[in-house]
Parts: sequence; C-alpha cells; structure tokens
Amino acid sequence: MEKTYYITTPIYYPSGNLHIGNTYTTVFCDALRRYKDMRGYDTYYLTGMDEHGKKIETVANERNMHPIKHVDEIAAATKALWDRMNISYDDFIRTTEKRHKTVVQKIFEQLLDQGDIYLGEYEGYYCMHCEAFFTESQLGEDNTCPDCERETSKLQEESYFLRLSKYQKKLLSFIEENPDFITPESRRNEVLNFIRQGLNDLSVSRTTFDWGIKIVSNPKHVVYVWIDALSNYISALGYGTDNDELYQKYWHGDEVVHVVGKDILRFHAIYWPIMLMALDIPITFKLHAHGFYTAKEGKMSKSKGSVVYPDTLIDRYGLDELRYFLLRELPYGGDGIFTPQSFVERINYDLANDFGNLLNRTVSMINKYLNGKVTSYSEASTDYDEDLETMCKETVKTYSENMESFKVSEAIKAVWALISRTNKYIDETEPWILGKDENKKDELENVLYHLAESLRHIGILLQPILLDASQSLFKQLGVSKSLRRYDTLSFGELREIEVARKPSPLFPRLDQEEEIEKLTKHLRGEEETQEENEENLATFEDFTKLDLRVGKITDCKPHSNADKLLVIQVDIGEGKDRQIVAGVAKHYTPESLIGKKVVVVANLEPVSLRGEKSEGMLLAASNDDTLEVLTLEKANPGDSVS
Ligand code: MSP
Repeated sequence: MEKTYYITTPIYYPSGNLHIGNTYTTVFCDALRRYKDMRGYDTYYLTGMDEHGKKIETVANERNMHPIKHVDEIAAATKALWDRMNISYDDFIRTTEKRHKTVVQKIFEQLLDQGDIYLGEYEGYYCMHCEAFFTESQLGEDNTCPDCERETSKLQEESYFLRLSKYQKKLLSFIEENPDFITPESRRNEVLNFIRQGLNDLSVSRTTFDWGIKIVSNPKHVVYVWIDALSNYISALGYGTDNDELYQKYWHGDEVVHVVGKDILRFHAIYWPIMLMALDIPITFKLHAHGFYTAKEGKMSKSKGSVVYPDTLIDRYGLDELRYFLLRELPYGGDGIFTPQSFVERINYDLANDFGNLLNRTVSMINKYLNGKVTSYSEASTDYDEDLETMCKETVKTYSENMESFKVSEAIKAVWALISRTNKYIDETEPWILGKDENKKDELENVLYHLAESLRHIGILLQPILLDASQSLFKQLGVSKSLRRYDTLSFGELREIEVARKPSPLFPRLDQEEEIEKLTKHLRGEEETQEENEENLATFEDFTKLDLRVGKITDCKPHSNADKLLVIQVDIGEGKDRQIVAGVAKHYTPESLIGKKVVVVANLEPVSLRGEKSEGMLLAASNDDTLEVLTLEKANPGDSVS
C-alpha cells in the first residue's frame, strides 16, 4: 500500500489580497506535495481561509458589507489566485462552513466537560492585527504589541480559558523526545525556551464581538479565533463526524506536515499540540516554520511601494519564474529579500542562461550532428563522463534529502550545481570539434547522450518546482512519459530519443536594466504613460518586423492543463499547420473556431504555454467583458496582412 502524506498551509486571513510573502507558504507546500507525489505517496493537500474574528468584522464594516459577503469575495479571489498559480490543493476549508463549525463546537464542549476549559475573567491587552492577547508584562513600549509593534487595547471580560499549564510538562517532554518535531532547530529552541518560562492558561472565548463560532452551552461567547482556526486541520478531514475516512487515513497515516511562517510558530507548536493532547488525538504532525520575505529596507510596505503581489509578476514574467524565485531565494531558517534586481537576475542568470541555454545547445547539437536522434548508452568512456554520471547520482540523493527535510532552496541549489556541471561538460568535451571528424562519431554520440541524460535527470527533479519548463524540456528532448518518473532516475535509462527539430527557449532573456527599472516603477505605482515615454512609439520599421498572415483554423481543442486556453491548429500556407495556444476559451468553444479565417502573427518567438508549444498569436479585439477574434471572409491562408 502507498504511504500517505498530508500537508497543510495555514489558513489565510481574508483581510486583503495575498502578497508574495503569504503565497510563499502555499507554493512551498505545493512543491513538497508534488515531490511526494513523484515519490509514489498517496498525498493530500489542504489550504483554506480563517474567516472569523474582530479584525474581519471591522474590515467588512468599513466596506459596509456583511462579513460573510466580504469573506465570500476574498475566498473566491484567493481560489482564483491558487488556480492561476497552478496550486495542486485537494481541499479549501473555510472556517465559516458548517462542516467546520460543528466540529469546533463539539471540540469546545468536550474540553469544557472534561474541565480542560473553564470560565474565568480575562484582563489583558489585545492586538487586533495579530488576533492575540498579551499580559502587561509582555507588551512593548507604550503598551504596543510585542510582535507587530502596533497599538493594543485593554480589555476586561468574562472568558473561557484552556488549561495550558496542565499540559506543560507533557508537551515539554514530547518536544524533547522528538527532535525533528519542529524545524528548523532554531525555532524548536525558541519554543522550548518559551515553554520553560511557564505557560499561562489561554483565553479562548470572547463576548465583545459576534463574528465567530458560538459556544453552544453559553451563546453569548464566541470561540476565540485560534481554537477555531487550528481545528481546521482535522475538521477538513471529517474528524468527529460519521464521515471521518479522510481523518483516519491521513491524520493517522504515515506523514503529516504543517507548514507555517515564523510569526505563527507558537500557536502551532504549543496551543495546537495541547489541544490535541486534551482531545486524546495523537500528535502525528511535523511542524516546519519558514522565514519571511521582506523588502530591502525591511518589512514590505505599501507606502514604500515594496509590497509585491504575485499577479504582477506572473503577468509580466510567468509562473515558473515566480515559483523559482520564491522557492530559491528564501534560505532554510532565514528570511529572503525580494528586490526587482534579484528577481530579474535570477531569471536571466539561473533560468535563461544556465538552464535554458543548456537545453537549447543540447537540442541544437543533437539536430546538427546526429540528425535529431540519440540512441543508447554505452557506459562511461572518459573521466568527464564518469564525473557527470556520479554527479547525476549524487544530485538525486542531495536533492531528495533536502526536499525531505524542508530545505527546498538547497534542493534547487543542488540541481543548479548539476546544471553548471553539465554546462562545463560541454566545454570539456567540445562537441563542435568532435563533429568535424568522422572518426569521432561514436565519441560525439556518447557526449550528446550524456548531455541528454543529464538533462532528463534535471527535468525530473525540477518537476515539482518548474511546472511548464520541466514538461517543455521533456517534449523538446523527446523523453517519453514513462521516463519522466522519479523511479527511472538512473544513468543510462534513456534510449532512442528524437529531439524537437528546433529548440524553443525555455525562458526568454530579459533586458536587465530596463526590466529592473520597469518593475521598480510598477511596484511604486509609477507606470509610464505613453506621452512620457517617447520610446513607446513604434516606427514603421518596427511594424514591418511583424509577419502578419491569414490563417485558417483546421482544428481546435481545449488545453488539457489550463481552463482559459485553447490549442489551435492553423493553416497559414506553409504546407504544415502551426500550433497556436490562445487565451480565448472563455469566449469561444473549440468547435466554433474551426474553419474560421483569422489573422496570425507568424514570426513571434515560440513559447510553451502550460506545456503546449505556441508558434504564433491570433489577433483579437477585447475589452473587460468581451473578446472577438479578428476574422476574414475572402482572403486565403498565407495571404499577408499589412
Ligand atoms: N490565519 C492565521 C493562520 C491560522 S492557521 C491555523 C494567519 N493568517 S495570515 O494570513 O496572516 O498568514 C498566513 C501565512 O502567511 C502565515 O504562515 C504567515 O507566516 C505567512 N506570511 C505572512 N507574511 C509573510 C511574509 N512576508 N513572508 C513569508 N510568509 C509570510 O496567520
């Protein structure tokens, strides 16, 4: 039977749009989930929204909306963002859903009946931003929140409390006996120190606002948000209901992982395990707390133009580029900095130069010297071969160990070390010199085989990270589906491939200075207008660079991996149809386009869109609501348009 793997993100507050910092957690979990899938696990990925609490109520009031309308809106936008980012989640739990509320109410009543929750009087300071209460001694200067340094307000009210003190010793021994329960180690030490200082019982209900789950036996109280929020990890699996199959399978399964940011470590490392102990539920999870993305000058701030939203980056640069940056740039145990410069440099240096060029050169050389075909492997014949083969093997090991221990950035670094080694192998073996000598044909074949096989390794390992580029690599190299699997990672498995006739660049190179400037301005909201930017005017010569032609659509299918895209075959008079991927699925059914004569930009650089090659573009007129593809009546396929 397959081993199970259950991974969760924190559930997000619907207080605004998610920036790259929040989305990091989700992309990180997505990569781990895909990695575990590749290792043959039966995986389950949960994410969702934390929709109760005073803060949400206040935000909704400010918008003159009922809180449920407000949270519905943000939940829909968040799901759309995850779709756009190709996040492979299985369930999206919202704490306002009935399935969640009933479980929380049941948990609360059980803890109350057992005496683990009791009624008392709360006096403390509340930080609305962090949804956290503090005692006077914990506060910063001028009674500010010790975490976010914002103002707090003093509260005194009747409240229920969870007896943390009762479980303190048990929790301490649990953490001490399970050294890999919390990673990184620095975070584990933080938690241990905190517990050793002594735990105060935790206030777990409120009477001063309504937007929360009512306590059944005393409905003037609502459950304070952390008990509500943390329960999502089991309520989503059906814990405590008649339908608890998922809970039995995954919570009691082989591996359970909670990934959180460092700011919410304490809640997950202390309150959650204590809740589970009190409920007599086994603590099966491992907790990983990552650092923060910040701007160069510190925390991301809207006023300084340093808050970065994922949409902005995907629109302009692409999803793989964003995923790569996020996963590569945040070091294990530390924080990461986003700057337009570091982002653009990672794309140009790592993706376009090191990785993209390697594939490009390899496909070109296999075409040039071997007529597009590489046959089979005949063991290492030079030290270079041996070295490369060893490196492939070691990279699989290092990469996998790092992925298993949440060191995703390190895992990526290991793949890039192999990319560099493979680039160096080209310099060492000089295939262009071997190509000049008929007697060196075998040697040349062997070199190109080694390049292709190393790239296959790279493609497999990058599947959880670069979703489109890894698939494009396989297609360009002609690697069959069965050889894209992790369990085929052994040098020499590759046989009889036929590469694409022309390589298509995996990542377009950016004009570095121009992009950095544009991105910086964009983030500051200082978009250039047409008048300000004379360079925006196209010269006649610019226009004539475009090869616009009439094309007849001969076939059209939905894209298997993107709802918005259609994969279209067009006859543009070349004797062979071109494939174009167009974002028109919202406006046209595939059948309705077949037979239409359209205008095609025929000399655009080919790109891969979600794994499908696109060699051109259709012209269309659009506004916010409609989109209409330009069509012609009399013209013939191949006619030029000017
Ligand atoms: N609702 C709680 C979590 C409840 S889980 C039972 C919450 N939500 S949040 O929306 O504020 O944060 C969600 C996640 O985003 C947290 O893991 C948080 O650490 C993470 N991040 C918020 N800002 C971040 C960065 N700048 N960088 C990296 N992660 C960041 O907390």
